[in-house]
Amino acid sequence: MTRVAYVDGQYLPHHAAAVHIEDRGYQFADGVYEVMGVVGGFLLDEEPHLIRLARSLAELQIAAPISNAALRVVMREVIRRNGVNDGIVYVQITRGIAARDHAFPKAARPVLVVTSRRRRPADPHAVADGVAVITIPDIRWQRCDIKSVALLPNVLGKQRAREAGAFEAWQVDAAGEVSEGTSTNAWIVTSDTTVVTRQADSAILNGITRLAILDIIRREGYGFAERPFSVAEAKSAREAFLTSTVVELLPVVRIDGAPVGNGQPGPLSRKLRECYLAHASAAGAA
Ligand code: PDD
Repeated sequence: MTRVAYVDGQYLPHHAAAVHIEDRGYQFADGVYEVMGVVGGFLLDEEPHLIRLARSLAELQIAAPISNAALRVVMREVIRRNGVNDGIVYVQITRGIAARDHAFPKAARPVLVVTSRRRRPADPHAVADGVAVITIPDIRWQRCDIKSVALLPNVLGKQRAREAGAFEAWQVDAAGEVSEGTSTNAWIVTSDTTVVTRQADSAILNGITRLAILDIIRREGYGFAERPFSVAEAKSAREAFLTSTVVELLPVVRIDGAPVGNGQPGPLSRKLRECYLAHASAAGAA
């Protein structure tokens, strides 16, 4: 099956899909994106993703190129044409094409790109044994709540993690508190079984997986707190884990080489992962 991408109104073979060299996304990272899960052919948590997309666009004063109803149709068509049953959809909207000048162009029309690909099943070792993270300074801007395509610090951070043999890098702010991973939200479980993740302020992306996990935690009656936590607190936590659309929930068993708890995935992390997978498959079955 030939892969197909939607680019600014057209469905094109993936290998021929391209944007203009003066697209502001290319020149200024002047655009936003979303990554949504596809489970059993259905979009997972489509509504909150569309709400976050609209918010990111509004914060950057980029007009929506098409209505949400039309975007829903395009995403389904891209999923269908690529034969994706379990995978992800990538949606990117840039401010458009204009002669290079930093200020907003008067006449540019936002450009929408939608792609979809199958997802490999979660790495069974990462799920069973947990993953390692390193900590790095958070060198990003002060609007990390906007899902902007400007991801260079995240790219550099993930590369540092790879080079250190770790799965993810947890970014640490000037106060010594963990903000989030380079493409995931960060969580710990304290010794009194309180689940802690940073509050959704402008220092983090308010993950849709994060919101789903918080719903599960409330429903299941676990204690939780949305507050910052330091690297020292994370290292002495009972459990730790990370979440995103792409990795779902993975236990974190080492931070900067030191074991978290007994160095094994914790029971609450496992339980929350199971609940999240049930939430995902219920969406697929709906
Ligand atoms: N990343 N924090 C950052 C910085 C992210 O880039 C992401 C998602 C998350 C988790 O958000 P969500 O649960 O909505 O996926 C947190 C996407 C998946 C990516 O860039 O590929």
